[in-house]
Amino acid sequence: MERTLGRVLVIVPTYNERENLPMIVERVRSAVPEAHLLVADDNSPDGTGEIADGLAAQDDHVHVLHRLGKQGLGAAYIAGFRWGLAEGYDVLVEMDADGSHQPEELPKLLEALTGGADLAIGSRYVPGGKVVNWPHSREFLSRGANVYTRMMLGLPVRDATAGFRAYRASTLEKIGLDDVDSQGYCFQVDLTLRTARHGLRVAEVPITFVERTVGASKMSRSVITEALWRVTVWGVSGLPRRLRRTR
Ligand code: GDD
Ligand code: MN
Repeated sequence: MERTLGRVLVIVPTYNERENLPMIVERVRSAVPEAHLLVADDNSPDGTGEIADGLAAQDDHVHVLHRLGKQGLGAAYIAGFRWGLAEGYDVLVEMDADGSHQPEELPKLLEALTGGADLAIGSRYVPGGKVVNWPHSREFLSRGANVYTRMMLGLPVRDATAGFRAYRASTLEKIGLDDVDSQGYCFQVDLTLRTARHGLRVAEVPITFVERTVGASKMSRSVITEALWRVTVWGVSGLPRRLRRTR
């Protein structure tokens, strides 16, 4: 069944992305002109927040959420989602600022929602999906994380850590954001799990992830450690219900 999409907000979390932000804003604006953008900046020391303010001053489709300091990707998205829901947007998109997620592929994600999905994931690990320019070590980590996640959680998703996604506002309202504790990149897995457990429809759309050419990744040892222990805890605490279902 075809459903109309309504108003779209693309949320871009930033921490030290001054050289990337103008590029990504321009690409989003031309790929999906009707969509609005929200930059969620964690008071970046490199002045990304001021650059975002400058872009917002020139374009009424660009908005900025200034946060006090670096509190992690998950916290930035929760704040962005709350802002977007309060403003009445119908679709909330997650997208990195560094060009790894290509705005030109956003229409494909939105089409998956129109086609009936409650969450559309831009996936590197379904047929047709790709990663360009990642060192082997990083691809190994990401693929390993997805294998472990699938094994522990039984999620029917190939790329549960993906950060290029489109949520219907109704999905976020149903799953609830108040008790989400994930701070780092495991936030992506957390919300995928909540969406699946609510029986909502998750669609994976193949995308090409292109490693950044400017600036540095914020992936850290603590991001990896948090993901590992949280996925393990979710897996163990979810075991009884998985066992009940297979019996
Ligand atoms: N506001 C805020 N606060 N933004 C952050 C923070 C934070 O603490 N940490 C990272 N970001 C922003 C970055 O500025 C960038 O726009 C985006 O989040 C992604 O960060 P990267 O550091 O470039 O991530 P990556 O390329 O290593 O990781 C990619 O792969 C992960 C694993 O598959 C991303 O697509 C992640 O979303 C994904 O989970
Ligand atoms: Mn990146």
